[in-house]
Amino acid sequence: MRLTRATTLAILLSASGVAAIDASPKYLLTDIPAANPDVESVVAFPDHADRAFPGGERVKVLLGLRNTGNDAVNVTHLAGSLNVPNNFNFYVTNFTVSSFGDAVIKPKKEATFEYEFAIDPQFAGHSLQLALTAFYDEAGVAYATTYFNSTVPVLDPKVVFDRELAVIYLTLAGVAFLCFAGVMKAAGLGHLVPFIGEAKPTTGATKKTYVKKVEKKGTTSASASDSEQWLEGTAFARSSSKKEKKKQK
Ligand SMILES: *[C@@H]1O[C@H](CO)[C@@H](O)[C@H](O)[C@H]1NC(C)=O
Ligand SMILES: *[C@@H]1O[C@H](CO)[C@@H](O)[C@H](O)[C@H]1NC(C)=O
Ligand SMILES: *[C@@H]1O[C@H](CO)[C@@H](O)[C@H](O)[C@H]1NC(C)=O
Repeated sequence: MRLTRATTLAILLSASGVAAIDASPKYLLTDIPAANPDVESVVAFPDHADRAFPGGERVKVLLGLRNTGNDAVNVTHLAGSLNVPNNFNFYVTNFTVSSFGDAVIKPKKEATFEYEFAIDPQFAGHSLQLALTAFYDEAGVAYATTYFNSTVPVLDPKVVFDRELAVIYLTLAGVAFLCFAGVMKAAGLGHLVPFIGEAKPTTGATKKTYVKKVEKKGTTSASASDSEQWLEGTAFARSSSKKEKKKQK
């Protein structure tokens, strides 16, 4: 199972040529500098609190940074990537880099940043490593904080009306109805089930059952059990089938 999934992923990756990326500065993620302990981060995915992301949709990330140090922190870039779980060197996608000209967080202050990324819908059904990093300078030294780095599931793209799903639901509903009808019949309440239960004794139906009754009394062969099936669920069958079975034995 694992192998199959990995293989499909590999095929997808080679087919897509590892998605085209608009990353300026392109190799920002190659040598990520160390984090500055004065910078604390919190992250929220306002539309995806469960941290599972539908493919093909822009995902909004809210990043809160607090500068607990004594020097100003100058946030320069927000970047992120999708990587193969347990093999971080395999970059599936490098997201577009957000650059800032003058996003300075003064000492003891905090700021909120918004970042957006989208996952190619072809990865739906897979789990990928999502890494999101903020780059900043403090007193002329470059730092970076990877504020999110976890394996996340990629979900099927959201669709307004899923025909396949509708067919599955209808089929399930049909099966459920048949089971229900079967149980009702077994309980001798088949006549209460619409469509499947025998019609309630209208004048015509009563006549029919009467004819069958005559047949039944005469023979105890296969045709008798057939007619019994035919009558199953009717008021008549319930009252007479017990007697009939005794007779057959
Ligand atoms: C994505 O970023 C990594 C790390 O910087 C780099 O090694 C890789 O070549 C990049 N991939 C693409 C397609 O730019
Ligand atoms: C913050 O960084 C940007 C981009 O590197 C730079 O243009 C700007 O002058 C810096 N601001 C401060 C206050 O260091
Ligand atoms: C994310 O975590 C993996 C291990 O789970 C690690 O190998 C990788 O270097 C981390 N990435 C970043 C950008 O910190």
